[in-house]
Amino acid sequence: MAQDDQFKKLIAHAKEYGYIFQSSEIYDGLSAVYDYGQYGVELKNNIKKYWWDAMVKMNENIVGIDTAIFMHPEIWNASGHTSAFNDPLIDNKDSKKRYRADELIEDHIQKYQSKIEKEIKKGRKKFGDDFEEKQFLETNPNVLRNKVKIDEIQSRLVKALEADDLNEIKQIIIDCEIADPVSGSKNWTDVRQFNLMFETQLGSTADGASKIYLRPETAQGIFVNYLNVQKTGRMKLPFGIAQIGKAFRNEIVARQFIFRMREFEQMEMQFFVKPGTEKEWFEYWKEMRIKWHKAMGLPEEKYRFHKHDKLAHYANAAYDIEFEFPFGFKELEGIHSRTDFDLSQHQKFSGKKLQYFDHESGESFVPYVVETSIGLDRTFLSILSACLKEEEVKPARLAGGKDNGETDTRVVLQIPPALAPIKLAVLPLVKKDGLPEKAREIMDELKFDFICQYDEKDSIGRRYRRQDAIGTPCCITIDHKTLEDNKVTIRNRDTMEQERVQISELAKIVDDKVSMKKLLKKIF
Ligand code: GAP
Repeated sequence: MAQDDQFKKLIAHAKEYGYIFQSSEIYDGLSAVYDYGQYGVELKNNIKKYWWDAMVKMNENIVGIDTAIFMHPEIWNASGHTSAFNDPLIDNKDSKKRYRADELIEDHIQKYQSKIEKEIKKGRKKFGDDFEEKQFLETNPNVLRNKVKIDEIQSRLVKALEADDLNEIKQIIIDCEIADPVSGSKNWTDVRQFNLMFETQLGSTADGASKIYLRPETAQGIFVNYLNVQKTGRMKLPFGIAQIGKAFRNEIVARQFIFRMREFEQMEMQFFVKPGTEKEWFEYWKEMRIKWHKAMGLPEEKYRFHKHDKLAHYANAAYDIEFEFPFGFKELEGIHSRTDFDLSQHQKFSGKKLQYFDHESGESFVPYVVETSIGLDRTFLSILSACLKEEEVKPARLAGGKDNGETDTRVVLQIPPALAPIKLAVLPLVKKDGLPEKAREIMDELKFDFICQYDEKDSIGRRYRRQDAIGTPCCITIDHKTLEDNKVTIRNRDTMEQERVQISELAKIVDDKVSMKKLLKKIF
């Protein structure tokens, strides 16, 4: 299926099955703002718990906080956001569409990358088992020609961004003959800087009100509380502070569903270390974070590291963890070695000391920071996009009825069971003969442990399909025999296999399948 179609299907599925709705939909929506529905919120809460447990529960030296969205406006001067949190924007004069100039260039670079990937595919087909990818990449003339192009454009872009040279960014667009992806026009305006922070007023009267910002990242709430937490928690270096919360950015280009939103959630952890040890900790967190992702069990080849060529003003090393979304590999998480930049800036701007006294050496210093910063909504999208499948199945396996040999399709969300919104569906085979009562009895017991869903409407096959589409890992069916032998049929979402088990064993069987502990054990 074409990537575009696949993505459209995902968006439609997310809406149809109560995962994600466009914000203010009945008023025609609000661009790049989304609401999470009844299943979406459960998946989101489970991702948060998985992250929080991996940070706060599993590490004695990491604690969590929850800071306000509104902060003193001077914080954003100290952090550099008022002056430097900009994106270069460009408008197409014909289509009137607005773009991020750097992204237009990066998408252009991606075209050369795709050409290289096509060459590799051709080479693999031609040489079969004898294909040596490394050698091929170093010698194939088409690959080399495209590589030169990539390096040339990339190095011009990095230099232009570093020097804030907006004219040069436009020149790259002209030299590369980049056209508006919508209209094909090359009639561009000049490139301008655009600050991404939302402003609002604090105070009731226009005169007395002061300008404040909606935070564009949660990290600053951690930095300004560094000393509060260190002192009240008697924390010793190295230690971390974690936070999950909303962030707001007035993104120029807000397409790609929940990938780039104007209101979104971040899960950030700032790890405070002794200066000079930051590189070591940076490597440690890089490894821990990729383990966290891979433990979920999505295809490993969908993750890759991307080293930043252009470092942010505060960083001395930075990597992204990228994920292969339906529109290609894109940033999912950032791991940054932020030096002592933030704490030093807050020390300077607030006039308050933010130092750490090291009892061993008798020295005071401003700690260095290694940050891990992941978008909750992007993690959600990565899971949905890797787990939504359309499969061919025999109708008999779905309905338990007769098999006429014809195949059918089912749509299934193979979300990691520990993160699935509904863990267990409780389904009486028919709506009579005491089966609903028995099903309710079982559900009343199990609902203390798991989010369960009771469903008695339609044929059992249709009910299985509904649960597959939501991503429920276990379905149990209560039939007439259940009343005699106290056994139910439990059906596995992924294999569709069915097994008859004792009701008394259900809690353990389901817990074994959906426990978060299993994911965490893969990491720690
Ligand atoms: N404190 C560092 C920081 O905020 P970032 O790379 O700007 O770094 C971190 O953001 C993560 O937040 C990104 O990797 C991404 O997952 C998520 N994120 C950033 N902007 C976003 C947006 N507009 N919509 C959804 N997620 C976003």
